Amino acid sequence: MKIGIVGTGILGEAVGLHLLDVGYEVVVFNRTKQKTENLKKNGATVVKSPKHVAENSDLVITVVKDGDALNDVIFSDSGIIAGRHDGMCIADMSTVNPNSTKEISEKVTITGTDYLEIPVMGGPNVAIDGRLVLMASGEKRIFEKFKKVFDSIAEQTFYLGNTGTAHSIKLAMNLQISMLALSLSEGITLTKKAGYDPEIFLKILNSTYFKTGMSEGKAYKMIKESYEPTFTLANLKKDLDTINDTADSCNAELPMAKLARKVYADAKDAGFGDIDYTGIIAYIAKLSEK
Ligand SMILES: NC(=O)c1ccc[n+]([C@@H]2O[C@H](COP(=O)([O-])OP(=O)(O)OC[C@H]3O[C@@H](n4cnc5c(N)ncnc54)[C@H](OP(=O)(O)O)[C@@H]3O)[C@@H](O)[C@H]2O)c1
Repeated sequence: MKIGIVGTGILGEAVGLHLLDVGYEVVVFNRTKQKTENLKKNGATVVKSPKHVAENSDLVITVVKDGDALNDVIFSDSGIIAGRHDGMCIADMSTVNPNSTKEISEKVTITGTDYLEIPVMGGPNVAIDGRLVLMASGEKRIFEKFKKVFDSIAEQTFYLGNTGTAHSIKLAMNLQISMLALSLSEGITLTKKAGYDPEIFLKILNSTYFKTGMSEGKAYKMIKESYEPTFTLANLKKDLDTINDTADSCNAELPMAKLARKVYADAKDAGFGDIDYTGIIAYIAKLSEK
C-alpha cells in the first residue's frame, strides 16, 4: 500500500514521519517545498504536484488549511483528480466545514474516486507516535479497506457513518479546545494579577474534577510564556469561523462560540496568529497592560 500526503505542514509532516517509521511507502507534496525536506531525509518521495501524488498512491491523505485549500489540491489542473486511478481513495484529515465536505465528496465520487473524511484530535507530538484520535465518515466499505492505515495513524479510530458527521463532531471538539485555552488563560491571568503564583492555581485545579489534559500539560508552558506552535492560533481562529458558519447553517445559537471567535480574531489581528493557540494567554495578558 502506497500512501500519499498532500500538505506537510505541522500535522501532515508528523503523520508522514510516523507512516514511514512503521514501514509504509510515502509520497508527499507541499506547496512550499521546504516543508518536505525532513520527510525526504526520512525516506519519503517528494513529487511536484498533488497530481503526481495521486498517480503514485493508493490512499491520498490531504492535510491542508481549509475547504478552499482542499478544493485547490483536489480539483486544480495539477490536482489529485488529474492523477486519479481506479481503486484510489482521498481521505481528508484537514478540519473543514461539514457542508463543504459534502460538496467535495460528491464532486470526487462522480469521478469514480473514493472519498472519506478523517479529521483527527491531537497534534504533531502524538501524531509522530501514531497516537491521534481519528473520526471517519463516508462509505463503510471504503473505511474498512483502509482501516489498517487509520489504526496505525491513531490509537483510537471511530467510524461515524455518513459524510459530514466526522467534521461536525470535530468542530464540536475544537470548540472545547478554544474555550479551555481561554478559561485557563483568564484563570492564570487573574491569579497573576491578584499577586499569586499561577502554579498554585494549577496545582489545585489539577487536584479536582475540573482538571483537563490541557490544565495538566500545556498550561505549564502557558505560565512559562512558551508558545512553540503545535497548532497555530490562526488555525484555531479559522476553525472558530467554521464553527460559527456551521452553527448558522443549522440554526444553532452558540453565544460563547461567537465571543470566542472575536477574541481569537482580535488576537490574530494583533499579531499573535503564528504562535501556538495557547498563546491566546499572551494576548489576554496584554489587555491588562492598558
Ligand atoms: N496541528 C494540529 O494539531 C492539528 C490537529 C488536528 C487538525 N488540524 C488541521 O489540519 C490542517 C493542517 O494543520 P497544520 O497544523 O498542519 O497547519 P499548517 O502547519 O498551517 O499547514 C497548513 C498546510 O496547508 C497548506 N495550504 C494552505 N493553503 C493551501 C492552498 N491554497 N493550496 C495548497 N496547500 C495549502 C500549507 O501549505 P504551505 O506550507 O505551502 O503554506 C500547509 O501544508 C488544518 O485544517 C488544521 O486545522 C491540525
